[in-house]
Amino acid sequence: MRRIKSPDLLVAESGADLEGHGLRRTMGLFQLVCFGVGAIVGTGIFVGLSDSVAEAGPAVVVSFVLAAITCVFTAFSFAELGSAIPVSGSSYSFAYATLGERIAFLTGWCLLLEYGISVSAVAVGWGQYLNELLDGLIGRQLPAALSNPPGDGGVVNIPAVVVMLLAALLLVRGVRESARATAVMAVVKIAVLILFCAIAFTAFSSENLSPFAAHGLMGVTSGASVAFFSYIGFDAITTAGEEVKNPRRNIPLAIMICIGVATLLYCLVAIAAIGAMSAADVASRPAVLSLIVDNVTGSTLGGGIIAFGAVVAIASVVLAVLYGQTRILMSMSRDGLIPRIFERISPKTSTPVANTWIATAVFAVPAAVVPLDVVMNLTTIGTLAVMAVVNIAVIALRRRNPDLQRSFRVPLFPALPVLGVLFCLYLIYGTGWRTWLQFGAFLLVGSLVYALYGRRHSRLGAAQDRGAVGERT
Ligand code: ALA
Repeated sequence: MRRIKSPDLLVAESGADLEGHGLRRTMGLFQLVCFGVGAIVGTGIFVGLSDSVAEAGPAVVVSFVLAAITCVFTAFSFAELGSAIPVSGSSYSFAYATLGERIAFLTGWCLLLEYGISVSAVAVGWGQYLNELLDGLIGRQLPAALSNPPGDGGVVNIPAVVVMLLAALLLVRGVRESARATAVMAVVKIAVLILFCAIAFTAFSSENLSPFAAHGLMGVTSGASVAFFSYIGFDAITTAGEEVKNPRRNIPLAIMICIGVATLLYCLVAIAAIGAMSAADVASRPAVLSLIVDNVTGSTLGGGIIAFGAVVAIASVVLAVLYGQTRILMSMSRDGLIPRIFERISPKTSTPVANTWIATAVFAVPAAVVPLDVVMNLTTIGTLAVMAVVNIAVIALRRRNPDLQRSFRVPLFPALPVLGVLFCLYLIYGTGWRTWLQFGAFLLVGSLVYALYGRRHSRLGAAQDRGAVGERT
């Protein structure tokens, strides 16, 4: 018997969700776009830009567009699934309803990369700008040994651990970003990036843009895989489904606007940065946006402002992503696929305290000792795998439940989801063989955990054995 959770069961269960009931539809399109930008713009552009420029050179703008196209295809699939199975869950729940428990478990397992490891990556990026800010404020940086991982000239990355601990502390106390705080953060981020462009363009030299595609098509492909990291988080918009006014129109529209705004900003920032400093220099410097502004203005004040914006903006991404991770662990725990401690809610704070601390402790380790490019690549490949599953899930749901009510339908079906899968595979290809191997090992461990624990403790499995629910396929 295949273990597939019916969409009806998922929706019924979501009534028991922590915040799944009684939510008022208060978010309009503007707030939703701010929420999306808040979750998307962070380490990817402020720090990861150097890595994507190292791969693609000035053609990094093409890489950004390719990464954006991949997201757009998948965004349609997210929107249809979100409208057909309106639970605040994530791709994990969508996979459970369409492709079965094993794939759902592995999707949840990959979400550990999209959320958990990405928290580590984002936290590492935060540390770079904190150092830049300290430099601007007191003229000193933290010692390299205490702010870089081994392999990057240090021993342990303390700032990355600190920002994660701070985020965990807020989360266990029940503070998560309010819509208003997120909107403010989003405006700060956009303002800082526009300020950066305005300053950097004054030192623009078109000579820096050639050779345009210094590393050819392969460089553009790998650049797109790295650039993809900076778009991760747009699916957070679908998790707000129950709080949005007119979700049928606003959710797909907000996703498209967010991806459009992010692409425009990223391309402008990339051209401004490379125009002001050669691609080779952009590729090799940490906290490069601050550095460029320092160089152009000849003082550390401008760079300090950029660093301040980055520190604030990136901290908000850490908070939002860690929150998302704890929610996913809770869903998996409720389904019995991981130990029950992850669903336990503290009666004092009404938050999943043990869950939050375990996740923080586990993901603080890579944040402390793994170089940024490694954690970014793992996040990227895990997210791409999840997105491929979402595109397949949309096709599977149309076949299995053709009559299920959907307020949004992917246009040009099945061409768009199929293209979505192909683009995900293309970017997975660009992450390179080391990342494939690491990911393969990660999936293998996931399959073992499922076989040895998840399958045996599954609540759906137990209910099927009792003959209470389920379907034979
Ligand atoms: N897109 C998020 C960032 O760039 C993960 O920080």
